[in-house]
Amino acid sequence: MANTILIGAQWGDEGKGKIIDVLTAKADIVVRSQGGNNAGHTVIHDGTTYVLHLIPSGILRRGKVCVIGNGVVVDPIALVAELDGLRKLGLRIDGKNLLVSNCAHLVLPYHRMVDEQRELRQGRAKIGTTKRGIGPAYGDKAARTGLRISDLMQPLLFSKKLQAKIRENNNILETLGAKPISYREVNGSYLAAGEKLRPFVANTVVYLHRALQRGKDILFEGAQGTFLDIDHGTYPYVTSSNTTAGGACTGTGVPPHRMDRVLGVMKAYTTRVGEGPLPTEDRQLAQMLHKLGREFGATTGRARRCGWFDAVATRYATMINGIDELAITNLDGLDHVDPIQVCVGYRLNGKRLKVPPCDAAQLDNCEPIYEAMRGWNQSTSSAKKLSQLPLAARNYVKRLAQLTGGRLSIVSVGPTRAQTIFL
Ligand code: IMP
Repeated sequence: MANTILIGAQWGDEGKGKIIDVLTAKADIVVRSQGGNNAGHTVIHDGTTYVLHLIPSGILRRGKVCVIGNGVVVDPIALVAELDGLRKLGLRIDGKNLLVSNCAHLVLPYHRMVDEQRELRQGRAKIGTTKRGIGPAYGDKAARTGLRISDLMQPLLFSKKLQAKIRENNNILETLGAKPISYREVNGSYLAAGEKLRPFVANTVVYLHRALQRGKDILFEGAQGTFLDIDHGTYPYVTSSNTTAGGACTGTGVPPHRMDRVLGVMKAYTTRVGEGPLPTEDRQLAQMLHKLGREFGATTGRARRCGWFDAVATRYATMINGIDELAITNLDGLDHVDPIQVCVGYRLNGKRLKVPPCDAAQLDNCEPIYEAMRGWNQSTSSAKKLSQLPLAARNYVKRLAQLTGGRLSIVSVGPTRAQTIFL
């Protein structure tokens, strides 16, 4: 397998976890480059369902090395809990199959509390964050006042820096009307987690470059999706990292010319968790999917908002990310929907738009222009080849690929590895 960047082409939750798991079979190394434990990748492996938040899904396969890159924000307590949980399920995880960048920034309890307080105070204008402290942690990173894994590896230095940060953040929390944080408690629990993480900490940039020299194949697993990107998403209703292809380079230290292909993952319809514009949102479709037990968030359990496939958005995602190949997931979610609508343009103030406007309020006012397609009214979940899909389903996925741009290479018709069609 070539060095592959895997990207969500919509608003996250595109079913990347399963596609990453399937592609990992051909990769040597799987790397996370951005985000934190706001992500939730669900993978079904040997009948067990794993939900991964920080650790790359490659950990489920033997002989693969997983890397948490410098662009990720790491909550050490959450990472230790995730490690313990996976070990309890029988996985062997040590410094040989998991590496954590010493440059990755830390998520601290005050980040979580500030995240929560800001959301509370925003009222109806809230972002709908996962409340994992992601925004405030990246905020500290950009303000050059963050603490990193390398600090945590030096206990005396860490404690000194932490004390100053807690003082500063307790003032902020007080203004927000929240309880102050105890330095002693945080210091104790973080240093203890730090010792558990010490065997995994490394200069992951050097590790990845050596691996490239030895011809290893690397899979860069994206978290969240294109329209949650801090630069290209529906700002301010976004996460705080670069979820687009460029983030794979900055978040790992692997240069762009070493990347061979970009695979965009998109659902056969559209979903979003949290607030912000979703032009093709459709209540009836959401009700139907929720009734089937589908579309509940892997991290927060929230019911996802659902809508028709938005080809304006996915075409834009193809452009930004340089998507070469496409994976369409959750096709089976539309098995009994007829007709199926596909958004092929937006109308705003009487004008037809081919690209999403930058302004979130304008995007919210965009009216989708739909093209209706015939449904197939039968199950697709046991199809192993494209030719085994009903004709209407084949026409549907081909149309989505044509509208989006990029070569269709994978269609997923269910959550297990076996329910994957390779083209
Ligand atoms: P934050 O990343 O927790 O700050 O949340 C910012 C926005 O990104 C919110 O709308 C979240 O619901 C959304 N978000 C964050 N992580 C994910 C994810 O893994 N899947 C889908 N949405 C996400």
